[in-house]
Amino acid sequence: MVSIKTPQEIELIRRACTIVRETLDYVGSNIRAGMSTKEVDDMVYRYITSCGAYPSSLGYCGYPASSCVSVNEVVVHGIPSEDKILREGDIVSVDITAEKDGYNGDAARTFMIGDVSEEKKKLVKVTEECFFKAIEGLRAGTPLYDIGYAVQTHAESHGYGVVRSLVGHGIGREMHEDPSVPNYGKKGTGMRLKAGMTICIEPMINAGTYKVVFHKDGWTVTTMDGRPSAHYENTVLITEDGVEILTL
Ligand code: MF3
Ligand code: CO
Ligand code: CO
Repeated sequence: MVSIKTPQEIELIRRACTIVRETLDYVGSNIRAGMSTKEVDDMVYRYITSCGAYPSSLGYCGYPASSCVSVNEVVVHGIPSEDKILREGDIVSVDITAEKDGYNGDAARTFMIGDVSEEKKKLVKVTEECFFKAIEGLRAGTPLYDIGYAVQTHAESHGYGVVRSLVGHGIGREMHEDPSVPNYGKKGTGMRLKAGMTICIEPMINAGTYKVVFHKDGWTVTTMDGRPSAHYENTVLITEDGVEILTL
């Protein structure tokens, strides 16, 4: 069931989203070569808890950390590790969910460590653009799969692969609520969005094939061809005349 949030609920989601944005800003100013992905996760845990919030990922279906830190060919759900050291030239997606007073906010950014290749720079840029294409003209009444249509059209125009097996989602009391928000789809199809829905739009874009591999640790997802992948996510509120991006 897709829920419409009350103004009070929206206010609480807004607060959780502000914490997520601040945490990502903090990580963005401190992440650097030589740091382990566990150190990145420690920053996330400390920042979120210092705001009186909880990192929703921690313990979610047994997930062992406060963030997902996905390097290069890791698409999403990279488990932070002391042994995974960031190097110049890496792209690193950091995905964070925070719960404050019972409501969640969720966002992800792909950071570039030092000088990265033109191929990776372009992939990161186009992945962000996919999100902004998706919200262009989005408002109450828009068919849900117009989002995926916009993401897919933009990504594929650059020859990139759109991950199919992982999708965006509604958000609120739970980190993952209805509806599913795919990054591919046919224009003009799907349920019509309504004012008061809060959803996470999160393009996961691969430099090469859209195909991915799910690893035996139960979490890590990598590209099948080993080429890099980028992720960009925001929580958005649907309104009568547009959207409000709550994590930007
Ligand atoms: N934040 C992720 C999302 O965008 C979900 C991570 S679940 C975890 O949906 F358990 F892996 F953290
Ligand atoms: Co997320
Ligand atoms: Co999400």
